[in-house]
Amino acid sequence: MSVVIRAVGSALPARAVPNDDLPASLETSDEWIKSRTGIAQRYIAANDETTSTLAINAARSALDNAGLNPEDIDGVIVATTTPDLTFPAVATMVQHELGVPRGTLAFDLQAVCAGFIYALGVADGLLQARRMRRALVIGAETMTRLLNWEDRTTCVLFGDGAGAVVLEIEEGLDALSGPAPRGIIDLQMNADGSLIDILHTKGGPSRTQDVGHLHMAGKEVFRHAVEKMSSAVLTLLDAHGFTPEDVKWYVPHQANQRILAAVAARIGAPPERFISTVAAHANTSAASIPLALHELERSGGLRRGDLMVMAGLGGGLAWGATLLRW
Ligand code: ACO
Repeated sequence: MSVVIRAVGSALPARAVPNDDLPASLETSDEWIKSRTGIAQRYIAANDETTSTLAINAARSALDNAGLNPEDIDGVIVATTTPDLTFPAVATMVQHELGVPRGTLAFDLQAVCAGFIYALGVADGLLQARRMRRALVIGAETMTRLLNWEDRTTCVLFGDGAGAVVLEIEEGLDALSGPAPRGIIDLQMNADGSLIDILHTKGGPSRTQDVGHLHMAGKEVFRHAVEKMSSAVLTLLDAHGFTPEDVKWYVPHQANQRILAAVAARIGAPPERFISTVAAHANTSAASIPLALHELERSGGLRRGDLMVMAGLGGGLAWGATLLRW
C-alpha cells in the first residue's frame, strides 16, 4: 500500500493588501519589501474570517477536487499556530461544520511554519498504521493577528490563508517501485529547541494569558532556514538514491524569495523547479506549502508520478521535508 495525496484545495481571505496599502506610519516601501523578500501583497482576514473558516473552505475545495463528500473522511488534522480559540482544536470545528462523521479523530498540531510537513508526517504514520483510511490534512493560519502592526521588521512579512489535502491509503501501489509508483516515499521531522529565542511570541496562555506578538531575529532565521531546509532535502534524496536534478517540483515553505533562491543554489537544483507564491501570499506559515501546492496543481504542470519535495522551517526551530511521487 501507499499513502497518496488524492487532491488539494485552498482558501484565502477576501481582501488582498498590496505593499503600497500598508499603513504609512510603518515607513516602509514597496521597493524595500519586494527587494528584500519578493512579497508584493498579502491577504488579511476580516473580523468574520478566522483560521477555522479558512480551514473549512480549503477543506471543501480539496473534497470537491477529490470528488468526495465529508462522510468519506475519517480523520482531520489541522496544522496551525493561530487557532480560533486556545481550545478546542480548529480540527474539531472543521469536523463539525463540514459534516465529517462524529467520532472520527480530529486534532491540531503546532510546528509553526513546519506545521504542514509535521501534519503530513503524523497523518502518514496513522494511515500506515491503519488507524484511518482517508484524512483531511490542513494548514491554516491567521498570522496577521499575531503581529505587532507597529513593527515593520515583521508585520510586512506575513499573511493569512489555508490549504488542504486529502491523504489516503491506496492498496496495491508502491511509492518507489511497480509500473506507476505513487505516494509518500519518506519524510523528516526535526527540531532544535535551543533556538527558541530567534523566532517566538512574547506571550501565551500559561505565561502571560494573552497571545503575544511575533518576534524574530531575521538574519539568524534566514541562515538557519537555508542550512536546515537544504540539509533535510539532501538527506532525503540521498537516502533513496535521487539527485536534486531528479526532482520535478520543489514546494517549499514560502517565507522569502531570497531563502528559496539560496536553498535552490545550495542544493544545486534548477530554481525554476521551486514553486514560489511568496509574491501573492507572503508568509502564511503552516498554510504556505499546501497553498503553493494548489497553485502548482492549478497551473496544469503537475503529472501523476512526478517526483516532488516539500520542505519547511519555522519557530522552535522546527523543520522537515517530505519526498513523494505525486
Ligand atoms: N521597511 C523598510 N525598512 C526596513 C523594514 C521595512 N519593512 N524592515 C527593516 N527595515 C530596515 C531596518 O530597520 C534596517 O535599517 P538600519 O540599517 O537603518 O538599521 C534595514 O532595513 C536593514 O535591516 P535588516 O534586518 O538588516 O534587513 P535584511 O536585509 O536582513 O532583511 C528580512 C530583513 C527580510 C527580515 C530578512 O532578514 C529575512 O528575510 N529573514 C528571514 C526571516 C523570515 O522570513 N522569517 C519568517 C518566519 S520564519 C520562516 O518562515 C522561515
